[in-house]
Amino acid sequence: MNDSIIVIFGATGDLAKRKLLPSLYRLFFKKKLNNVVIVGTAFDDVSAFEMLREAKKNIKDVDNEMWNDFSAYVYYQKLDFEKSNDFIDLEKNVALLEKKHDLSGRRLVYFSAPPNYFCTLTKLCAKSKLVQKKEFHSIVYEKPFGNDFVSAREINTCIKNYFNESQIYRIDHYLTKEIVSNIAMVRFSNIIFEPLWNNRFIDNIQIVLNENACIEGRGNYYDNYGAMRDVVQNHMLELLALIAMETPEKLTGEFIRENRAEVLRYVRVADGLLGQYQGYAQEKGVKKKSKTETLAALQLYVENERWSGVPFYLRTGKCLDAKKTAISITFKNVECLMAKGCPMDPNILTIGIDPQSLFSLHLNAKKAGVSDELTTMNMEYCHSCDLSALTPGSYETIFEELFRQEKSISVRFDEIESSWNIVDAAYAKNFPLYIYKKGTNGPDECQNFAKKHKIRWVL
Ligand code: BG6
Repeated sequence: MNDSIIVIFGATGDLAKRKLLPSLYRLFFKKKLNNVVIVGTAFDDVSAFEMLREAKKNIKDVDNEMWNDFSAYVYYQKLDFEKSNDFIDLEKNVALLEKKHDLSGRRLVYFSAPPNYFCTLTKLCAKSKLVQKKEFHSIVYEKPFGNDFVSAREINTCIKNYFNESQIYRIDHYLTKEIVSNIAMVRFSNIIFEPLWNNRFIDNIQIVLNENACIEGRGNYYDNYGAMRDVVQNHMLELLALIAMETPEKLTGEFIRENRAEVLRYVRVADGLLGQYQGYAQEKGVKKKSKTETLAALQLYVENERWSGVPFYLRTGKCLDAKKTAISITFKNVECLMAKGCPMDPNILTIGIDPQSLFSLHLNAKKAGVSDELTTMNMEYCHSCDLSALTPGSYETIFEELFRQEKSISVRFDEIESSWNIVDAAYAKNFPLYIYKKGTNGPDECQNFAKKHKIRWVL
């Protein structure tokens, strides 16, 4: 990544200080950023030093000398997201910095801002010429893209008035997690999976994104979103799409996006329940009688030939007993021919994402020494155990891919439309909301939900 400028809108916000600026520092440390100038902008009256000081708190093992070198490329400009003059000033400063640092003219503008600003920001970036209709000017929208189907469509219609699709990136950082990008590779590069990957052999699929963290000071944002808009609409449905999509013609960007988009069209919401942790309504920024869900469990079906009759369970929550993000694919039972030990455990393929990234296959095997009894065993590939030092964080990958102009990291608008349709349909069903205690694994009703559907939560 050479001789370019990155402008971050919302540079004092949570994402910028926890992820964007630390990732850019790490890329600089790895010598992958060469003469790349960063300009942070936000409403706050702070200096570049103060903005960076907050980001530095989120970086482990900072090399102070490298940090100082990195800081020399970082600037800050206070800006009102709705004032066109501020954008004109910003464009002038960006042009001056391009001269000062002898940059190529390549610009990348990153909106780490609430989606209700996306249209205005886009318009003002276009009018001030900060971003122009040029292939080497890119514009990046952080999730969530809208807060329902209608608003997402409004934003998209607005931004298409100003820029070409090839310049637009809609980001979902789950797509750049190393193990997630490995899902398609593993699935389509091994002959043993594809013949079994359908309703003849798979009993159910569970996708879990459980967090022990609560809303961490993000009450203003979270209370308007809730678990379904915050993570189901994007991260979890993108995982579902990768698991359920048909075989792409090639394992490359546009083919993968096409197949992800296609499968999301066929998702139907069948059942669900919601939860809210005790004390949520007392969090800063949350409405006193808020009914926003901090937990959701959904049963979905993909209504196509491959998946007809196979339930997909999505389950997510905040303030739970542990952080665990994983997908588990439970296969149907074989006929049990054993004299003892029937019924046997089903085979389960687990794709761990967090805290451990791994592929693990749960099999039945003979118990040592005893002739007619079974035991279970795991075949495991633990990516994070061996390779975590070599694995870049997802936002490092995002910046690298943005510079390569790789489109598979960007969610296509039809994927976004379908996933909002699914979430809107889930809200329309008015699933009951149960209160649960912090630090538990959710309300008891979650277990009853599993019993009702004759499944066991695997994760
Ligand atoms: C973000 C959500 O998109 O994803 C957060 O806004 C959530 O609420 C986070 O905590 C989870 O991401 P990860 O990478 O920590 O699993």
